[in-house]
Amino acid sequence: KTPRITVIGSINMDLVTVAENMPEQGETISGDSFKTLPGGKGANQAVAAARLGAEVHMIGKVGDDPFGDSLLNNFEAQGVETEAVDTESDVSSGLANIIVSDHDNRIIIIAGANGEVTPDYVDGFKEQIEESDYVLIQFEIPKPTIEHILDLCGTLGVPVIINPAPAMQLDDAYWEKAAYITPNDNEAEKLFAYDTDGLPKFHDRLVITNGAKGASFFKGDRMITVPTEKVEVTDTTGAGDTFNGALAVALAEGRPLEEAVAFANRAASLSVQKLGAQSGMPKRGEME
Ligand code: RIB
Ligand code: NA
Repeated sequence: KTPRITVIGSINMDLVTVAENMPEQGETISGDSFKTLPGGKGANQAVAAARLGAEVHMIGKVGDDPFGDSLLNNFEAQGVETEAVDTESDVSSGLANIIVSDHDNRIIIIAGANGEVTPDYVDGFKEQIEESDYVLIQFEIPKPTIEHILDLCGTLGVPVIINPAPAMQLDDAYWEKAAYITPNDNEAEKLFAYDTDGLPKFHDRLVITNGAKGASFFKGDRMITVPTEKVEVTDTTGAGDTFNGALAVALAEGRPLEEAVAFANRAASLSVQKLGAQSGMPKRGEME
């Protein structure tokens, strides 16, 4: 059976400037290139899962501007279902200003239409949600909506993967509703360090990504690290999103966690070899 994933989250246009170095404070430098590329953590995760063969439904919003149209076209081209992506009037599409240098990337996001993804809006798509094997969320939509999704999926009995990026604290009662929580090492340090037993809080459901080092999870109180292949890096933007989309697909296929993490590592390592969040995301056939 084809795994079915619903992603509820952000859709951004990424304005990507490539330069050798970052400018210092008050400094102006010449860059190398500029590209407009589809992004947003939610959209990226949806595209990652669709490329790997899942049936993916995106719940989110774009603005009524040219970026909104091209973001919708991109979903269509990638095979992501968009019946739950509305065009919101009088607001811009979500934007991300991204500088990619040889050593680093830095991002400023503008929520735009992502800020209008309300609890009521999500309620309009209960059917899509209920029929999903997994729901995948991130933190680029409003907090009340995040909390509402966790309550709703709890009631509907649909497992949720929370990718807590950018880092934002929730009440324990909400973290407890997640099937898995997938912070990177920085987010894990900020949000889950440490319980009284010296282990990260909620370690029974954490999958912590650690860039080129791979990803870790806990078996009891033992941490298991699944290493990733060493690859030539062009742009790490969206690597975490690729990991999350792929993890959701593998879990929806019923694979054990360790295998699912290895699958997600592999997808993420392929994705960093091209510029842009979505450009390098592998298709199923490229995973072998
Ligand atoms: O995770 C990468 C994404 O974060 C980018 O595509 C950008 O839109 C920001 O949301
Ligand atoms: Na990439």
